[in-house]
Amino acid sequence: MPATCVIGLQWGDEAKGKLVDLLAPNYDVVVRYQGGANAGHTVVTGSEVYKLHHVPSGILSSHIQNVICPGVVIEPNMLIKELTGLESRGIQPRLNLKISERAHVVMPWHMIEDQAINKTVVSGESIGTTNRGIGPCYRDKVGRTHAIRMADLISPSLPNRISEIVQAKRTLLAPLASREELDQLDADRITSLCRTWADSLGSMICDTTYFLHDQLDEGKGAQGSLLDIDHGTFPFVTSSNASGVGVTSGSGIPPRAIDRMIGVAKAYSTRVGGGPFPTELLDATGNKIREIGREYGTTTGRPRRCGWFDAVAVRYTARLSGANYLSLMMLDVLSHFDELKVCVAYELDGQRIDRLPCQADVLRRCQPIYETLPGWNHDVTKVRSMKDFPVNARKYMDRISELVSVPLGVVSVGPDRQQTIFLI
Ligand code: GDP
Ligand code: IMO
Ligand code: MG
Repeated sequence: MPATCVIGLQWGDEAKGKLVDLLAPNYDVVVRYQGGANAGHTVVTGSEVYKLHHVPSGILSSHIQNVICPGVVIEPNMLIKELTGLESRGIQPRLNLKISERAHVVMPWHMIEDQAINKTVVSGESIGTTNRGIGPCYRDKVGRTHAIRMADLISPSLPNRISEIVQAKRTLLAPLASREELDQLDADRITSLCRTWADSLGSMICDTTYFLHDQLDEGKGAQGSLLDIDHGTFPFVTSSNASGVGVTSGSGIPPRAIDRMIGVAKAYSTRVGGGPFPTELLDATGNKIREIGREYGTTTGRPRRCGWFDAVAVRYTARLSGANYLSLMMLDVLSHFDELKVCVAYELDGQRIDRLPCQADVLRRCQPIYETLPGWNHDVTKVRSMKDFPVNARKYMDRISELVSVPLGVVSVGPDRQQTIFLI
């Protein structure tokens, strides 16, 4: 079975969840391969609104097997809450969810560490993490000595392992954490918490890698490519490979099994948390985009920073992820502007550049060079076919596709499943 990947091409929240929910019925398996509870995907089906964090967005179709892969970091309390929330709405996620025994567990010390370190400043600005323990958990994964994987939750040696790690963490975190926080790091309490997690999740924990080798199908990342640890706007990034390059390492699927990459981008840009954002609009236009697009974080509720579409950044991420098709989302939000700007290059120290610089400080100095396109001032939320779009909306989409060098595959004109036009 050929595999399709859905990748965010900006700084997250490109509406990947909506697209995966729509594509899912054509597939047997939907996998999530990196990130953790930092992700927040809103899926709207008629009057129902679902907010997913760990659980892949294929969960709303009961015939689909959903898989949380080795590259994901799992906060079990939140995952259990998410499953219970779905159950209370008549969905039975436990019947079609597999969780990799290799996935790492976000432990209570990771949350404490994230909150303590998040307050510090790098390159003059706080990263503004989601405080979900993501960075510290991945740090321990790479560090190896203090890591806990899902398989450990069901291992008889768990109490010893927890006790050793708690001892080490209490020492390491002493200068950073409050007394109250350190008191939460009690080995017996955490061991019994792990037992509760194992009781609730144990039946879903398995070797997903062998399962996927037999099933190869659809993969989806969380976050956006510009938040990729190796290729994004470092250090203002997340701690995993959120771009297409992470698909194979995070999922365990070999590269040659993937035959289609769909890059998802909003028709403008948003970003949550700190970091350079060349096209950011700190004015009434930015506020207007935020209010019309309801640009508030699904996970943290923070107002998203808003700005014009940045074709330099998306051209880079589309190439990085090898996008075959562009899924352009939130086009409806731009229906209320007389004119629209698209960043086609940057000006850096008097020079025109068309590449995304690697240094955050340098990107911060880049001034966007804009091309102005006429708006369409016409509600497009009921458009269901390309021919029904106002001509200026067509021109806007065609120009973006041309600048990014990727053909349009999907256009979204509202949060609902119906408000989507497929060209593929
Ligand atoms: P994800 O993290 O990439 O899955 O994206 P989020 O779910 O965090 O953010 C996207 C938001 O936009 C959600 O609230 C969606 O319901 C909403 N949405 C999706 N597509 C559209 C669209 O075409 N137009 C509008 N106005 N909203 C959309
Ligand atoms: P989805 O999957 C938007 C951002 C945070 C912060 C940086 C690091 O919904 O697109 P972390 O907690 O990961 O260490 O925070 O990354 N961030 C996201 N921004 N959407 C997301 O996920 C994000 N996940 C992390 O705001 O700037
Ligand atoms: Mg989101």
